[in-house]
Amino acid sequence: MESKTTDAVRDSRIAASVPQGFGELLRKRREEAELSVAALARQIGVVRTTITNIEQGMTTPSPHTLRLLASCKALRLTELESAEDESADAWHTQQYDPMQMVRGMDAVLNGPGGQLEQTLLYLDPQSAADWYQLSNSEQYMTAFRSKMPLDKLAERIIRESKGVGLDVDGLGCGDGKTETALMQRLADQMPAPPDLHLYLLDISHVLLYSAYRFAFDTLAPRRIPVAAIHGNFNDISKNPVLYMHPRSVRRLRVFLLMGYTFGNINDEPWFFRDLAACAQSGDLAVIDCQLVRAPTDRKDEIFANDAPIKTKRVPDAYTKFLSGPLRRHCNGLIGMKLRSELSTHCLVPGSYAVESWASVEKQDEPTRQFLLFRVKRYELEKLSECLRGLGWNTLQTWKYGPDNLAAVLLIQRQ
Ligand SMILES: C[S@@+](CC[C@H](N)C(=O)[O-])C[C@H]1O[C@@H](n2cnc3c(N)ncnc32)[C@H](O)[C@@H]1O
Repeated sequence: MESKTTDAVRDSRIAASVPQGFGELLRKRREEAELSVAALARQIGVVRTTITNIEQGMTTPSPHTLRLLASCKALRLTELESAEDESADAWHTQQYDPMQMVRGMDAVLNGPGGQLEQTLLYLDPQSAADWYQLSNSEQYMTAFRSKMPLDKLAERIIRESKGVGLDVDGLGCGDGKTETALMQRLADQMPAPPDLHLYLLDISHVLLYSAYRFAFDTLAPRRIPVAAIHGNFNDISKNPVLYMHPRSVRRLRVFLLMGYTFGNINDEPWFFRDLAACAQSGDLAVIDCQLVRAPTDRKDEIFANDAPIKTKRVPDAYTKFLSGPLRRHCNGLIGMKLRSELSTHCLVPGSYAVESWASVEKQDEPTRQFLLFRVKRYELEKLSECLRGLGWNTLQTWKYGPDNLAAVLLIQRQ
């Protein structure tokens, strides 16, 4: 049970993200839809006073209630808010506190060395801009993004949905281009207007804003509502807005982890255990990941075949992005060398990590070692087996990219 103080703090945060005059807008839309308060309450599974209190401006709707209201298509709430006031669809998750995270990053980068949690790589605006540049480079686009099997993925998702509406959560959406492209393909296979909602979540304001703009501009003509959520995907289980299913309307949720986000997460089993708790039976998740170049017990082959491990070099395309946080935040830095290393200390059986390390020189201080980034590579069957033990069955996998060394998995909550 949350205390009253926590409730008050939460309500004030939510209030900051709900558009002014929302109660009036709700009343207007309800009347236009010729719905009585009782009918609307029944339809979305709340008590009547919840609706009247919001309409009269006596309470601020929680994200949970907002989502329930948005699920009533006759109200056209998300659509109208998006068209009239683009900022209306930006929410914050409860634990989102960028100031505290930036301070934490500063402390880590000025500490004795050790591992950076991957979230820290995207926190400052320049880091986010560097990621944007990297993920939109011709090389990255040609090798990976343009090759993703989005048509087949959309087809299978539609088949699994059995005609119900889809709520798609793009977790760590970056620039949102892949997530938006998938939405277009889903919409292509649904009757118009498609019963599709897109929720974009990212820790970086810079990336989230560009994702929201791109998704909104692309999807608004097809009447697909888009909401942007500033937040930390590690907190998903604490934020009903990310997983709430309206009780009265059966919809399917599809969680997306595109652009190899899955393989950067520190503890993937932990993440997917939490996600299983948030999902309902039948909900879907999509994992986009890289595959092993050789099995973990054949290290010689990994050294021979996996370029960054063979050369011990961090690929040039990544150096600006990876070294940025140290260059900008590490006080007294006089030099830094990057290198790649192999690690088989990974939690998903059969996987290994390509680690990017920085050796940092500071004035009159001993050299420090920072582990900046871990990109894990997986064996598809062992990953599926691991996910099964965490509550997720693999429905289908597709290999893609150069030498078929990337893969997309569509998994389903048991
Ligand atoms: C590897 S990029 C992938 C971006 C995008 N999905 C794509 O396909 O290009 C990882 C994304 O996750 C975001 N991210 C990293 N850690 C996060 C966290 N803890 N919570 C929310 N977003 C996070 C980053 O800001 C970045 O946009």
